[in-house]
Amino acid sequence: MIAAFSECTAYFEAEYQAFIAKTYYHNEPLASGCAYALTGQGKRIRPLLVLLSCEALGARWSSALLPACAIEMVHTYSLVHDDLPCMDNDDLRRGRATVHKKYDEATALLVGDTLFCDACGLLAGSLVKRWHSGERVELSAEQRLGMLQLLTRSSGSSGIVLGQVQDLLHTGNQARAVTQAEVVETYHKKTGSLFAAAAAMGALAAHATPEVVEGFRLFGGLLGTAFQIVDDLLDDSTLSGKTPGKDRRQNKKNLISVLPAGEARHLAETYTHDALAQLARCADSYALSRLRQFAETLLLRTR
Ligand code: IPE
Ligand code: IPE
Ligand code: MG
Ligand code: MG
Ligand code: MG
Repeated sequence: MIAAFSECTAYFEAEYQAFIAKTYYHNEPLASGCAYALTGQGKRIRPLLVLLSCEALGARWSSALLPACAIEMVHTYSLVHDDLPCMDNDDLRRGRATVHKKYDEATALLVGDTLFCDACGLLAGSLVKRWHSGERVELSAEQRLGMLQLLTRSSGSSGIVLGQVQDLLHTGNQARAVTQAEVVETYHKKTGSLFAAAAAMGALAAHATPEVVEGFRLFGGLLGTAFQIVDDLLDDSTLSGKTPGKDRRQNKKNLISVLPAGEARHLAETYTHDALAQLARCADSYALSRLRQFAETLLLRTR
């Protein structure tokens, strides 16, 4: 949890845990695998981005709870599939066994499928009518459709999935050398796209104009690209809840393979700076101060 935003994270977490408990309570592998994947030591960065984007535009956190839950579910689905043996083949995630290690590969595949479908169902209005706190979910049909468009655009053939295809092409001893531009393009797809949807959905929840929603989308995309660069820099971390040194052992041709670490960090700073420049066009400086602090904090993370 990021200390400066602990109140916002705790607010999200209480509702999210209640939603998980109510939705995935069956004692069979699919529901229990979904609950397992969604819990653990996730940092909840993307839902925080949704809530803080909404807050920056003058609306209450509760207006953005639905997209915040949906985005964290899509993110979790992407991690469950990313860890599969046919992808990054990881045994450890969020400080414990990956879903396919705890259950089996078929369950992990189906958990991922379920979380993606249920995230869309959540936005479409089929899963939650009232929050744990008793508050009603009040999103118009137009807001829900806009959020679904943002979420699916960021996830599919021009978003996460495309980024993961490119990432696999850059992995292993047989992979050809890559350029910095190719790596950054992959990061923009595999990670930036969901950050873009998060920020834009937060803006939409606050009834922002299409121009402001687009400004937030561009901000999120650049912020997510910086986030992925920092993830590369943390490959050896023992605090990440993931297997240290995994990218290196897998011979992943990431940014660290084309740039010295100091230059990679500088690039992450540049993307964050560019992200904040996009944001500055959308609202006044005072309103944006917490989002700015959030973006800067992400650069300093150690896990
Ligand atoms: C991991 O994301 C995948 C990347 C895009 C780098 P996070 O570092 O946000 O993972 P959790 O949600 O905290 O586990
Ligand atoms: C993951 O990138 C991006 C996704 C879309 C899941 P990584 O493969 O670098 O994420 P980690 O290091 O496993 O969390
Ligand atoms: Mg990966
Ligand atoms: Mg991975
Ligand atoms: Mg990584």
